[in-house]
Amino acid sequence: MSTAPPRAVEFEDIQGLVRYGYKHLRQACFLLLHIRDAKAARRWLAATRVTSAQASRPPPDTALQVAFSAPGLVKLGLTKDVVLGFSPEFVAGMSSDASRARRLGDLGANDPGGWRWGGRSYDVPHVMLMFYADSAEAIDAWLAGVLAECTEAFLPLQEGCLRTATLGPTEPFGFLDGISQPEVDWDRRRPARDEEQFEFSNRTCLGEFLLGYPNEYGAYTDRPLLEPGRDPRARLPRAEDLPGKADLGRNGSYLVLRQLEQDVGGFWQFLDREAGANLALRRQLAEAMVGRTMDKGEPLVGPGEESIDGIETRNQALNGFTYGGDPEGLRCPMGAHIRRANPRNADLPPGWDNPLARLWRRLGFGADPRRPDLVASTRFHRLLRRGRKYGGAPGEATGLHFICLGANIARQFEFVQGAWMAGTRFDGLSGEADPLLGHRLPGLDGRPTAGFSIPIATGPDRCIAGLPQFVTVQGGAYFFLPGLGALRYLSEMEDT
Ligand code: HEM
Repeated sequence: MSTAPPRAVEFEDIQGLVRYGYKHLRQACFLLLHIRDAKAARRWLAATRVTSAQASRPPPDTALQVAFSAPGLVKLGLTKDVVLGFSPEFVAGMSSDASRARRLGDLGANDPGGWRWGGRSYDVPHVMLMFYADSAEAIDAWLAGVLAECTEAFLPLQEGCLRTATLGPTEPFGFLDGISQPEVDWDRRRPARDEEQFEFSNRTCLGEFLLGYPNEYGAYTDRPLLEPGRDPRARLPRAEDLPGKADLGRNGSYLVLRQLEQDVGGFWQFLDREAGANLALRRQLAEAMVGRTMDKGEPLVGPGEESIDGIETRNQALNGFTYGGDPEGLRCPMGAHIRRANPRNADLPPGWDNPLARLWRRLGFGADPRRPDLVASTRFHRLLRRGRKYGGAPGEATGLHFICLGANIARQFEFVQGAWMAGTRFDGLSGEADPLLGHRLPGLDGRPTAGFSIPIATGPDRCIAGLPQFVTVQGGAYFFLPGLGALRYLSEMEDT
């Protein structure tokens, strides 16, 4: 590994979505395409301006991002040996096998066989074009123009024009969204210390979200590294850890897209039944499921006060908290969506952050070995969320085009979705999965998964049974969001 000081981040080579959510551009459309003619596709890509992460003032009034699936990279002309240098789960794809589907909770109504797109090999998109603009008219005109000019190159998937609703503060159930995000360590200050990092920090190493930079283990994630002879025009950055290699991954990220339809009526009707006519209780139950209040997004564990690295002062009340003061889940149930999605310090039972306890733990002993097994250290499982809501007009289906970015799909999205969301033994719980996302089918052991428990200080838990399914997966795929040099490299490949 190189000992040179870290190189400055090449913002001009990174697609803007990694740095910005483009919240000022309230309209978006994600166009899913098959490559019809590789040469024409490369020509179109070479001539297209993709928005970088370089800061601009004023911010851009439109943005275009481009991502590829593994079959898309092959179809575009990248040789299989190079594609195999990407991670196995990206190469395999989201819907490729029954075991992955089971782990991700893609069973029953979520089964990829029933998806609108991405569930069968023939409807896995090759390319995704992501359009952002500030008006629906601008998106429509732009989309129509692109579709007209690239008919030779691409064929849109039948269900492949994923429109979004005007960006607002809430997701379809009505909760404030977009509150908690990891703070990306853009200035590369954070030392990656695998064993010594016991406190929750929101600042997360760049290499957790971008390939080609050190991650939270202090290591460089595997990605395709080429002999310079395979990059004759020197379009690719050189690898930081192996400067003799051209780095096809550097400044790129994996992008996970899931179309998650929400049964908003079903959600509130269920809570109506549970709460009787008690409107305050109905809301309280919904908030317990999420872990935040509905209107203000305040954490149920109470306003954050802690000085947590990577939390700005203005964000402290909403995000400067851990679950350290609520080990029993009396304020925020253990199984609440945000506690499952990011348990913060919940993996370390109280008293674990002193030197003796650390040594004890490092030697492989634990006061309660069950907890760390079930909730692994959260800093290896952070997601940069970039999704948008869709639909919601009267009579129209609604949900999230859930998008997250990360440098390791298995350790980030698949772990969070599989072990924490779909997992029925999260943090010592049993008989329940994520209260928003669960499919509610019995587990492999035949035990129910449709419960939700709310611990009560003065008595037994309040146990809600028979939760219906509120969210159904309608499509999904894994993409690679290349750096702009890599995109240029891809668009200049010759036919083999
Ligand atoms: C339709 C489906 C979903 C809904 C309605 C939903 C709703 C929410 C809401 C209301 C919040 C709190 C606001 C915020 O912090 O931004 C949140 C946070 C979060 N969600 Fe979801 N979510 C959904 C799917 C998912 C999925 C599939 C994942 C990951 C596999 C996920 C991961 C997260 C994470 C990581 C957080 C932030 C937790 C924290 O850092 O405190 N969500 N979600």
